[in-house]
Amino acid sequence: MAKAAAFTCTACGAAHRKWAGRCDACGAWNSIVEEAPLSSGPKTLGAARGKGIELTDLATEEAPPPRASSGMDELDRVLGGGLVSASAILVGGDPGIGKSTLLLQAAASFALSGLKCLYISGEESSAQVRMRAQRLGLAHAPVALGAETNLREILTTLDRERPALAIIDSIQTMWMDNIESAPGSVSQVRAASHELVTFAKTRGVAVILVGHVTKEGQIAGPRVVEHMVDTVLYFEGERGHQFRILRAVKNRFGPADEIGVFEMTGDGLAQVANPSALFLSERDKPAPGSAVFAGIEGTRPVLTEIQALVAPSPLGTPRRTVVGLDSGRLSTILAVLEARCAIPFAGLDVFLNVAGGMRVNEPAADLAVAAALLSAREDVAIPPDMVLFGEISLSGALRPVGQTENRLKEASKLGFTRAIAPSRSKLGSVEGMDVRQMADLTAFVGEVFGAG
Ligand code: TYD
Ligand code: MG
Repeated sequence: MAKAAAFTCTACGAAHRKWAGRCDACGAWNSIVEEAPLSSGPKTLGAARGKGIELTDLATEEAPPPRASSGMDELDRVLGGGLVSASAILVGGDPGIGKSTLLLQAAASFALSGLKCLYISGEESSAQVRMRAQRLGLAHAPVALGAETNLREILTTLDRERPALAIIDSIQTMWMDNIESAPGSVSQVRAASHELVTFAKTRGVAVILVGHVTKEGQIAGPRVVEHMVDTVLYFEGERGHQFRILRAVKNRFGPADEIGVFEMTGDGLAQVANPSALFLSERDKPAPGSAVFAGIEGTRPVLTEIQALVAPSPLGTPRRTVVGLDSGRLSTILAVLEARCAIPFAGLDVFLNVAGGMRVNEPAADLAVAAALLSAREDVAIPPDMVLFGEISLSGALRPVGQTENRLKEASKLGFTRAIAPSRSKLGSVEGMDVRQMADLTAFVGEVFGAG
């Protein structure tokens, strides 16, 4: 065994010939562990061929996969319209963010709608899960509950019970007795996931795997688990906030980037049907440094408040602090403001934040970010009834973005009456919205901040 031993990085899954303190592939420290080889047979398949596979053409009639509704709209939306049978789903998130709570609620909801559901906890005892169910008022739901970490036992049980949905909480606690390494190690997580995903496909059971996320924001253990499953959902949120966002980062059965919004309350997660209203609810009276971005998350418009603070810096290298946005994007926008509009931020600390613990990844947020920065720097408030969207190019031009009509409709619904949009964006007609279209950032600065 020692002869064929290989080493794998637990952070990125890269294989190494020998142990090292740092992984060359991803740069993580202390992440390389020794692994038992997966198979010790001959390296090539040789002359003995298999039976061959059956081929079809692309036009083969295939009914859309049957879907089961969870009864929780926010969850159904993220799944692409409900749970697809015989699919494998990974739900990742920080410890304590609420994954077990979400999935217990989902299991109860599925079970109450008539789906046979199994919930296997490898982290908590059955008694603990029962106590949680009681607290959530779900004790009456016909969910079959088990506490086990040995995958052999779990697969035997699944084979016997044949549920429509099995929830495995969490994949890091599962272990296979034919593999030598400890539970949570790369080889265990990889092999256990592979076994469960194969089981899901061959027996027609939908499987949801819970996965913990490392400090660096990746599912602990190999990234390969993400490649194995059909759908990867991340459950995210700031500890200090009660909002939780379930985001589809990969979905073979629906749009990626779709989000579901929840609120953590004393009795479990509550769905938030109108996230825009929620994210804007903390907005006080119009203050400099605040701009409302009309964004799109997946297929749904979401308004968020971008907040900026700009202050003289006591440091040689001024601070650039960003929460909820990409920091590279901030640097780009600052550079464009400086180079194209002659508005320098040298010597100024810049703090940028998306209110409510939301994360914005859309480039269309550029204009709202620029507006918040300018508003903070010039100490001029942006009109409280105005939303903004548009991508900023390096030349300072405003690039059109998609789904303009959706953005404007949502803004109008929430009582906004003015919008600033890129000039080449196709506008639908939205009643009661005064939309100003602008070609570049210079025009915007002149218009809103009076010639800059
Ligand atoms: P949990 O689902 O155990 O998180 P995870 O499985 O992702 O590790 O959630 C734990 C947190 O949620 C815990 O800090 C308490 C909080 N919580 C509530 O606020 N309300 C509730 O009704 C429940 C069940 C948990
Ligand atoms: Mg848990």
